[in-house]
Amino acid sequence: MSFDLFRPEIDASHPRLERLFEQAKQDFWNDSTAIDWEQPLTLNAAERKALAKILSLIYYGERAALEVSAQLVPLVEDEQAKFVLACQVIEEAKHVSAFRRLLLKLDVIHPCNPWVRRTLVDLVATKKASFKLVGMQLIVENIANQLFHVIHDAIADPTLRKVLEYVGRDEKKHTGLAVLYLPSVMKKVGFVEAQHLYLRQVYWSFCISQAIWDHRREADALHIDIRTALKRGIDAQDRLVEQMGMRRAIFKNKTLENLVLSMYKPRET
Ligand SMILES: [Fe+2]
Ligand SMILES: [Fe+2]
Repeated sequence: MSFDLFRPEIDASHPRLERLFEQAKQDFWNDSTAIDWEQPLTLNAAERKALAKILSLIYYGERAALEVSAQLVPLVEDEQAKFVLACQVIEEAKHVSAFRRLLLKLDVIHPCNPWVRRTLVDLVATKKASFKLVGMQLIVENIANQLFHVIHDAIADPTLRKVLEYVGRDEKKHTGLAVLYLPSVMKKVGFVEAQHLYLRQVYWSFCISQAIWDHRREADALHIDIRTALKRGIDAQDRLVEQMGMRRAIFKNKTLENLVLSMYKPRET
């Protein structure tokens, strides 16, 4: 059933999305006033450069998330999902604004890595809600969230940590939308679309692992252990899929994961 603008009945089939909408409204913050942008950063020159390269990826990811969440508002059929996505649009706009300020304080906004670019172009270009929800809300949002945790733990700068805490709290709601809403969307997806979606995830995973490989030196400069971070990201993704309670068309290949993990040596402490 498609969305009918003039249906008098109230759509209330997703009460957990209604709660997520309430949570989103309660959590609203203003990036102009919540962060003290006058406070100097405590990182040295090498750390600034390395962090700016990594956060530039996030910056383009946030810009793509703004586009994708706005595209999803008319694409999804349920009004409660539209409410949550409408909140996400303003949240992503704040994230773009916050990372832009942070990057200009740190160094410069670097050009987008080609592998990240391929993934984001694909997610913005697809016309299918299921592709956008799996690719952006489930996969990219989870990676961003895990990256925020890793950077937060590795770098003790108060301004940076505050930005990551505010943005991370929002991103958690964005993966929450995937967990709560994807099962009902995937139920309506046909066999061919499901196979196609599965193959796209193989492609996105390949692009993302290439992008991580391209940033191994920056991770080293920031004392970030990529292997541990990757493992943490994979575990978090598994937990999200577990919470969804369905695996239809969701890509998972343990051999490939182990192969990617084996590219990185564990950090000696
Ligand atoms: Fe975001
Ligand atoms: Fe997000």
